[in-house]
Amino acid sequence: MKGVILAGGTGSRLRPITHTGPKQLVPIANKPVIDYAIEDLKEAGIDDVGVIVGHVGSDEIQAHLGDGSDHGVDVTYIVQGEPLGLAHAVGCARDFVGDEPFVVYLGDDLMREGITELVADFDQETYAASIGLQEVDDPSRYGIVDVDDEGNVQLLVEKPDDPPNNLALIGIYVFTSDIFEQIDRLEPSWRGELEITEAIQGLLDDGKRIQSHTVHGWWKDTGKPEDVLHANYLVLDDIDGRIDGTVEDGAVTTGRVDLGAGSVVEAGAVVKGPVSIGENTTIGSDAYVGPYTSVGDDCELRGVHIESSVVIGESTITTERKIVDSLVGRKATIRNTEEKKPDGTRLVVGENSTLDL
Ligand code: TTP
Repeated sequence: MKGVILAGGTGSRLRPITHTGPKQLVPIANKPVIDYAIEDLKEAGIDDVGVIVGHVGSDEIQAHLGDGSDHGVDVTYIVQGEPLGLAHAVGCARDFVGDEPFVVYLGDDLMREGITELVADFDQETYAASIGLQEVDDPSRYGIVDVDDEGNVQLLVEKPDDPPNNLALIGIYVFTSDIFEQIDRLEPSWRGELEITEAIQGLLDDGKRIQSHTVHGWWKDTGKPEDVLHANYLVLDDIDGRIDGTVEDGAVTTGRVDLGAGSVVEAGAVVKGPVSIGENTTIGSDAYVGPYTSVGDDCELRGVHIESSVVIGESTITTERKIVDSLVGRKATIRNTEEKKPDGTRLVVGENSTLDL
């Protein structure tokens, strides 16, 4: 079976972070989101992977994954161009997958238990597709699926007012080539996209059977800043801790801490895990890095008290303020101003930002 990772899209909900790079490369516990998808595919025995790329971020994704050999897979890039919807993106993979069943993984999703079972369970003799589902608390916000006692899909409804149950579609699918005929028939939806749920509904309407697989471990889409922080929290909750850098005498590290090569926790600093710190980063003598924080490569943190946050990398933070629940983009500087200014906070705020002051 081949794998297809959807890594086009606009990433508008993650601006301004996605103004300078694709969301599939945003690090979660210091690993780009797309690497988790590649690892899950590989673990499920899939090493031939098509990566759908759009206009935005395509070069960065190709520079990161290369031919896939560093990740132990073969990567083929498939250009979607305009992000005309998930079904359009899947349709672009037609030549790559040929007549074989294939797995589709959304490139901004993370799943704790991987996809091995879902892939192994797929019965291609009986079913035209299989979809990953998960129980959610607020079904009216999701695409909801009604299934019979054997897990056969009966109906799909998008954001229902009166949900038949709480089983939501997550971003993982196995398709046979039957899906392409359905994609060909689609018209753009109200939001101007070719919708994958409509293509799946088309299979049902044509009398095809669709299998489902309910995922019990957490699943997370990283489309919005708060989702990135939550995904970071979930992944850090599972790390073992590994010190490759230097913890100076007089520094305090407690709990599970990953510290990358070339990084230093200076005497007097406190790092309280679970925390992930990348390579060549300095946690200065008066800094505190609290639980559920990831700090990327080449950063310098001094004076700051930071927790439950993600600092993507190459940033300098030298304020004494407390930073919580924050997402800090690459090459950012956060500092105290030296002059005494009139009361007020001086900001340079990117398009679509939200600052909770
Ligand atoms: P979404 O998060 O649904 O869409 P988006 O990336 O356009 O984000 P936003 O709504 O914030 O603007 O996409 C889920 C995944 O599928 C993501 O990895 C991008 C990918 N995708 C494509 O490859 N092609 C597409 O046409 C779309 C819409 C998404």
